[in-house]
Amino acid sequence: MLTLSGKTALVTGASRGLGKAIALALGKTGANVAVTDLLVESEKVDKERLAEYSLLAAHFVDTGNVETISTAAAIRKMGVNSLGMKMDITQPDQIQKVVSEIFDQMGGVDILVNNAGVMDNMATMEHQTLKMFERDLNVNLTGAFNCIQAVWPHMKQKKWGRIINISSFVGLRGAFAQPGYGASKAGMIGLTRSLALEGARHGITVNAVLPGFIETEAVKLHDPKMLDRIKERIPSKRMGNPDEVAPLVAFLASDRSSYMTGTAIPVTGGADLFNF
Ligand SMILES: NC(=O)c1ccc[n+]([C@@H]2O[C@H](COP(=O)([O-])OP(=O)(O)OC[C@H]3O[C@@H](n4cnc5c(N)ncnc54)[C@H](O)[C@@H]3O)[C@@H](O)[C@H]2O)c1
Repeated sequence: MLTLSGKTALVTGASRGLGKAIALALGKTGANVAVTDLLVESEKVDKERLAEYSLLAAHFVDTGNVETISTAAAIRKMGVNSLGMKMDITQPDQIQKVVSEIFDQMGGVDILVNNAGVMDNMATMEHQTLKMFERDLNVNLTGAFNCIQAVWPHMKQKKWGRIINISSFVGLRGAFAQPGYGASKAGMIGLTRSLALEGARHGITVNAVLPGFIETEAVKLHDPKMLDRIKERIPSKRMGNPDEVAPLVAFLASDRSSYMTGTAIPVTGGADLFNF
């Protein structure tokens, strides 16, 4: 039996999509879960500033599709502890505060899932800007680094830790018109392997999960014709759903994966394979 009972997990970017599914799966497997996101319900946001940072984030504020606090409430109903909190992974001070609160209320962070990310900077090279390229790296790669740095000393002290980085298969394959996204996701694999080397002697494992096309609310916003074209090219002829990724994260978060570290595991329905 896979159980995370007695462990506490911190999941980033869990207001919707993959992060939310992962937070729910960890709760279901018995972990206490801190559900965090840049966005939380009922927070007043400066929409213009938010749109400058991410059009996708602004869209979801408009549609009311922000479920950070309510996901924590759903996890508490499973009989474990859960907190829903705002945490911008580009802000080390904010991360420190959230981690301290998790320590006070749930006793520590044993499992970190770096899921938060931005993927809405799509433009060919002549239309790319340095600002947006750097934003992609700052959120997706440096953001993961910031979160790891905040929990690493405690995991080292406990001689036990699980870090799971949600990269992407595009970290191996590249992403057309998404140079910042592709570079940041490839960077996450390098970050995973480098820290796995360091963590191994301290009981900390660091692994990356590389989803293929997963049908989240964010992905569903693309042009339906384009989505059909993509599905046709995936060997399994369909996109995955978040619940087909979350169980792997729960496994990597558990004692069952104790001899696995530095891995980068595709969950793609075959999309990362060579295909005619
Ligand atoms: N859906 C896919 O097909 C797919 C494929 C491969 C990898 N991924 C990766 O999985 C993760 C989740 O994808 P998704 O489809 O659920 O996308 P999503 O956009 O729905 O989720 C990303 C979450 O991150 C949050 N976020 C953005 N910036 C943040 C910041 N600075 N601090 C904290 N939170 C922030 C967003 O508010 C959002 O809730 C992303 O890292 C994405 O790159 C997704």
